[in-house]
Amino acid sequence: MTVVVFGSINLDLVVEVPHLPTRGETVIGNRFFCATGGKAANQAVAVAKLGVPVYSIGRVGSDNFGQVLLENLQLAGVDTTGVTIDSQSHSGVASIVVDQRGDNAIACAAGANNLVRETELKAFEKIIPQAKVILIELGIPLPTVMEALRRAKSSNCPIILDPAPARSSLPEELYKLVDIITPNEIEASQLVGFTVDGITTARQAASFLHQMGAKKVIITLGSQGAFCSTGEEDFWLKPIPVKVVDTVAAGDAFNGALSAAIAAGKSFKEAVIWGNVAGALAVTKPGAQPSLPTRDCFMELLEQQLEIEN
Ligand code: RIB
Repeated sequence: MTVVVFGSINLDLVVEVPHLPTRGETVIGNRFFCATGGKAANQAVAVAKLGVPVYSIGRVGSDNFGQVLLENLQLAGVDTTGVTIDSQSHSGVASIVVDQRGDNAIACAAGANNLVRETELKAFEKIIPQAKVILIELGIPLPTVMEALRRAKSSNCPIILDPAPARSSLPEELYKLVDIITPNEIEASQLVGFTVDGITTARQAASFLHQMGAKKVIITLGSQGAFCSTGEEDFWLKPIPVKVVDTVAAGDAFNGALSAAIAAGKSFKEAVIWGNVAGALAVTKPGAQPSLPTRDCFMELLEQQLEIEN
C-alpha cells in the first residue's frame, strides 16, 4: 500500500520573531534553528511516521544540506531511491519566519527542486504500478507536475494534488487529472479569484473547482477546520482545539495523513479526519518535519476524533 510523494525537498532556516516583518522592516528574532522541510518531503515523512510505506521522488543538491535532507528522509523510513543528487545546483532552501501566534511567512530558493524533470519522471513511472496513492505538490516545475499527472492517470490509484505553493491559475487539464485537490484558504482564493475565508466562500470555491474538473475538493481553513466536497455532498470538519506554536507544515501533515488513510483503505470522510488530526498535532510543535506526529500520539487523538465525528 505504498504512497508515492512527488515534489520539493528543502532545508528550512527558521527565525522565531515577535511579529512577521512588514515591507522593508527588519525584525529581531529570538531563536534560530534549521529543520528538514520541503512540502513533499514533509508529506512523505508524515506518511512514514504513521507506519505506511512511502516512496519519495525529487532532487537535492550534492551539498551538505542535500546529504542531511536525504539521510533524514531515510531515517524516517522513506524510500529515497527516486531522489536524485544534483551536482549543478544547491539543495532547496526555505527562509522562514514564525511569529508568536505561530503564523509564518516563507521565501524559498528552489535550487535542485527546479531541475526535477525527466530523470524523476522515469523513476516515477517505474514506481507507479506499486502505488496505492499518488501525492503531488507544486514546489517543482509545473510542466513536470503536468507530465507526472498524465503518466499517473494510466494507473487506477487516486491522485491527490496539494496546490501549494499558491498560484493564481493552473492549466484546466490539471483539474481533470486529479482525484482530490487540497488547497488551503490562500491557495483556494488565488485559484478561484475571490477571497475564501469561511464555510460559505469555501463552498463557492469548491463548486468552482468542481466545474474546472476536480472530483473531490478539500479546502483547509486553518482555525475554522476543513470544508470537503465530493460534488454530490459536502461536509465540514470542525477544527481540533490545540495550542498553536508553529503552523509550518500543518498542510503537509494533513496531506500526508490523508494519503496514508486512503492507502490504508479508509473512507473519504475518515481520511479527512486523519488529515485534520495530523494537521492539528503538527501546529503544536516547532519546525516542519520535527513537528510531524508520531503514530502513538496520532492514534490517541484520532480515536477521540472518530468518536466525536461518528
Ligand atoms: O509547507 C511547509 C514547507 O514549505 C516548508 O518546510 C518549506 O520548506 C516550504 O517549502
